[in-house]
Amino acid sequence: MMKTALITGVTGQDGSFLAEFLLEKGYEVHGTIRRSSVDYRERIAHLEGLPHFHLHYADMGDSMSLLQVVGKVRPDEIYNLAAQSHVQVSFDSPEFTADVDATGVLRVLEAVRLCGLAATCRIYQASTSELYGKVEEVPQNENTPFHPYSPYAVAKLYGYWIVKEYREAYGMFCCSGILFNHESERRGETFVTRKITLAAARIRQGKQEKLYLGNLSSLRDWGYAKDYVECMWLILQNDKPEDFVIATGVQHSVRDFCRLAFHYVGIELEFSGEGENEKGVDKATGKVLVEVSSDFYRPTDVVNLWGDPSKAREQLGWNPVKTSFEQLVKIMVDADMEKVALERASDRIRTNLAEYLEKGIVK
Ligand code: NAP
Ligand code: GDD
Repeated sequence: MMKTALITGVTGQDGSFLAEFLLEKGYEVHGTIRRSSVDYRERIAHLEGLPHFHLHYADMGDSMSLLQVVGKVRPDEIYNLAAQSHVQVSFDSPEFTADVDATGVLRVLEAVRLCGLAATCRIYQASTSELYGKVEEVPQNENTPFHPYSPYAVAKLYGYWIVKEYREAYGMFCCSGILFNHESERRGETFVTRKITLAAARIRQGKQEKLYLGNLSSLRDWGYAKDYVECMWLILQNDKPEDFVIATGVQHSVRDFCRLAFHYVGIELEFSGEGENEKGVDKATGKVLVEVSSDFYRPTDVVNLWGDPSKAREQLGWNPVKTSFEQLVKIMVDADMEKVALERASDRIRTNLAEYLEKGIVK
């Protein structure tokens, strides 16, 4: 029998990779989308129209829409990925973030219960290493105490506890994956890794002068999103509902990421100075390419995330280092070099066409 999965947040980075993964496994895949004035669904455009891929309107802030979609699809598995996922934005929109990232999880759990699916439907909750926040130990594992350090993290902490509560109160198979940062060529352009790879490509191809960043010393455990969605699935195939840390076990700074991304586009950066005065200089030309701007500082910043994926490796057989840090940066840089080259080509075509129209060469 073909299994049915429902993915909230299917248009996001993880949702798009997970949809591909589940379709390959032979699932009937349903995803939720939000109404928007522009149809911008780039990450799943290649899946639309496939016979086993279906989209439904639902919003994490709207219980009725979630009830309708859960009742209609009656999924065997739900992957609750939808969230306001940007930490810095959560300081500007704390109430919205709480509604979507905290109460939204409760709405999904209740929809499952109210539709009579509590005994049959397995639920994956997209939890986060941000729960460790102002970290109390390094590296972090499933037993490390939480100390959330942003409105986003506080909202996600509610999601984590309400999932645990429904597991214990109603015996539901619901689990949290405590995922450390995972990136890809599909990462949103305002997260630090993608901001860097896109800027490196643009600077290399003469489309941008400089890159402005915030805290260069922040440390992260960065993995490849495509590897991480496999783990979401493995968590729901486990015999018992349990929470897992998903990480690579390798840590780098934002500065390291930057240096490597520029290296892959052929620019060797040298950093000097401290805090807001730190600069990244092109060794070959002496030009300052990276500067620090306090606009990208956060009121409270999480600066030392480093995960211990031993439990996932031992109990789920998951390989945390399938894609190395170096391979991840290369994948992202190569994709952005190609994207920028295409943008330049289309700019050239537009300019030529405008000139030809003006001169009457084409009509
Ligand atoms: P993402 O690219 O920002 O995708 C978020 C998804 O949620 C998008 O599909 C978005 O829809 C949807 N969404 C946002 N608000 C919504 C609402 N009110 N109702 C319905 N859908 C809504 O995030 P991601 O990187 O794929 O992350 C997936 C999940 O994992 C998130 O919950 C995130 O917090 C969590 N997480 C991510 C990481 C990471 O490093 N990537 C690590 C730990 C945990 P639109 O396309 O319409 O905006
Ligand atoms: N976004 C951004 N932009 N971050 C910057 C910048 C900048 O210009 N300069 C430095 N940083 C630092 C941030 O202060 C933070 O310490 C680090 O780079 C990573 O920032 P993000 O890439 O925005 O990711 P995040 O770690 O805050 O959050 C991501 O990972 C979480 C898991 O730990 C998101 O995907 C969350 O949804 C996820 O839960």
